[in-house]
Amino acid sequence: MTALPLSAATFTPESTPVIESDALLGLYKQPPMELVRGSGVRVFDADDRAYLDFTSGIGVNALGYGDEGVAQAMQEAAASGLLHTSNLYHTRPAARLAGELARLSSLDRVFFCNSGAEANEGAFKFARRWARELGGAAKHEILAVRGAFHGRLFATLAATDRPKYRAPFRPLAGGVSVVERDLKTLEHVLDGEAVAALVIEVVQGEGGVRVLDAGYLRELRELTRARRVALICDEIQCGLGRTGWMFAYQRAGIVPDLVTVAKPLAGGLPMGAVLMTSDIAAAMRPGDHGTTFGGGPFVASVALHVLERLGDPTLLQHVAETGTWLGEQLGALAARSGRVRAVRGLGFMWGLDVMQPAAETVRKALETGLLVCSAGEFTVRLLPPLVSTREELSEGLSMLETALQ
Ligand SMILES: Cc1ncc(COP(=O)(O)O)c(C=O)c1O
Repeated sequence: MTALPLSAATFTPESTPVIESDALLGLYKQPPMELVRGSGVRVFDADDRAYLDFTSGIGVNALGYGDEGVAQAMQEAAASGLLHTSNLYHTRPAARLAGELARLSSLDRVFFCNSGAEANEGAFKFARRWARELGGAAKHEILAVRGAFHGRLFATLAATDRPKYRAPFRPLAGGVSVVERDLKTLEHVLDGEAVAALVIEVVQGEGGVRVLDAGYLRELRELTRARRVALICDEIQCGLGRTGWMFAYQRAGIVPDLVTVAKPLAGGLPMGAVLMTSDIAAAMRPGDHGTTFGGGPFVASVALHVLERLGDPTLLQHVAETGTWLGEQLGALAARSGRVRAVRGLGFMWGLDVMQPAAETVRKALETGLLVCSAGEFTVRLLPPLVSTREELSEGLSMLETALQ
């Protein structure tokens, strides 16, 4: 399918009216268009207007839209007739996928679930169980750092540094807190006897696309190892190729105790996973945790295909090299526009601190035919599909420049 030329997406009275359902919980401010199909790095609305997608469905659609390999994997998996079995029985796709994830991450065991927040909740439980076996009942505290986003469930919300998200839902889960990010503070708090785990995003996504320095990560690995505190890397947004590394922590040459992944793992189907060392796994007993859907044969078969594609060294090299180029282009754009305070990022994950509210740039970009999203009030976030070419990225950058004017 060839992409239509991009048209200025101005919404006129002639535009097809959006069907708004009173039955849908209104948690999102959605623009007045309805998406009906996708192809390559573009999505199309009901009037066949094309939008270049630099959000990838918030980091999910790493292989873009209408990917033939993903479609074929789905067809083959569906043909088995075995969409779901529950975890009461063995299935081959889950076993193979776990093996691949373990190999790629240098970890040993894998637990499958259905989303990012669920993966983090699992990781918190596993870390706490391990810590208690090691250090007694008092060792339970999970620490996250300033700027963190780990999800919207009670424990993950307690590990998320966004007062606006947290305040209406207090009390949050106990024994989970956010601390300052600097090494001096961390060294001090990690000395606490109650501390079981430290959770970090190697590139903080929702917190404004902040790349944690490789030296800092190595220090954290040392500090946590010396104190027998589990280091959890939340790679839900920055993992699985987005930074040009299969896992963003590999850039620092470290191996965490637990790693969580989700978003792009199953090509748009909901799936999350917790990867862990054999030490952590050894602390878990049958029945300690569970899920009905996690790791079902259909979703795992599709994920096996996606993982093979995302782990392809050619794709990772493309993301690393094109990502460096993208950063340079964004730096030049920022200097020209005079409306960008800072540019941060790595690979295909970038944030621009803008002078007006980010929502304003997101809206204007949409009108030019470009989808971007925000990461905090003043940061515009770019998460293009990993298969985007330089031409497609250049096209999006000139739309972004127009939107910033
Ligand atoms: C770093 C990080 N962790 C966790 C989550 C939560 O994932 P989900 O929305 O699948 O629950 C997100 C989602 O944006 C994320 O970016």
